[in-house]
Amino acid sequence: MKVIGSALLACALMIVCGCGVSEPGKVEGKMMKTVKHKLTVGGKDVPNPIPASAENIADGQEHFGHHCGICHGLDGQGTGVPFAAKMSPPVPDLSSKDVQDYADGQLKWVIEKGIDPSGMPAWKEILSDEEMWKVVDFIRHLPTKGSLGIPDVYKEEQEQHKHMDGDKHHK
Ligand code: HEC
Repeated sequence: MKVIGSALLACALMIVCGCGVSEPGKVEGKMMKTVKHKLTVGGKDVPNPIPASAENIADGQEHFGHHCGICHGLDGQGTGVPFAAKMSPPVPDLSSKDVQDYADGQLKWVIEKGIDPSGMPAWKEILSDEEMWKVVDFIRHLPTKGSLGIPDVYKEEQEQHKHMDGDKHHK
């Protein structure tokens, strides 16, 4: 009985571990998310003092374009950012439910402090409180994916590639 019992247990463990091996990223990612949302991301009860007026959203969009677009795309949805999906952890789509589920105060907290360890920088000394709140307003009112085009840096790169391709065709 005991032997069968442990054999069963071993089987069960193998099944459990087997699952873990095939999808470690998913399980880990989910756990990390839960930990981040529940424990580490503060600011949940801090209200956004900057109303989401058209003007403030436009200001937020401008700051976002300058500071965040290089990784998140001008639209916050990764448009034109070649490495967004390849980063570890990947750069998230800010229109996704995971991000939108944050309270305004948590988004501000993430922007202010960044996420360590990951590629998301902290903006404490770079943006003022007011600017960060405006960026939060923008994140709440993201434009249609792709509607703002791609960040200039990548545009130039694309054009260079085009020129290079063009050169190839001339030869
Ligand atoms: C150098 C690239 C880079 C820049 C610049 C950058 N981010 Fe991020 N951002 C990331 C990465 C990578 C993540 C994913 C971090 C993670 O999941 O651990 C992220 C995650 C986020 C999240 C989601 C956080 C979460 O817990 O899901 C928000 C919101 C965000 N960034 C906003 C911004 C804003 C606003 C700016 C500009 C002020 C900005 N980011 C600039 C790389 C960047």
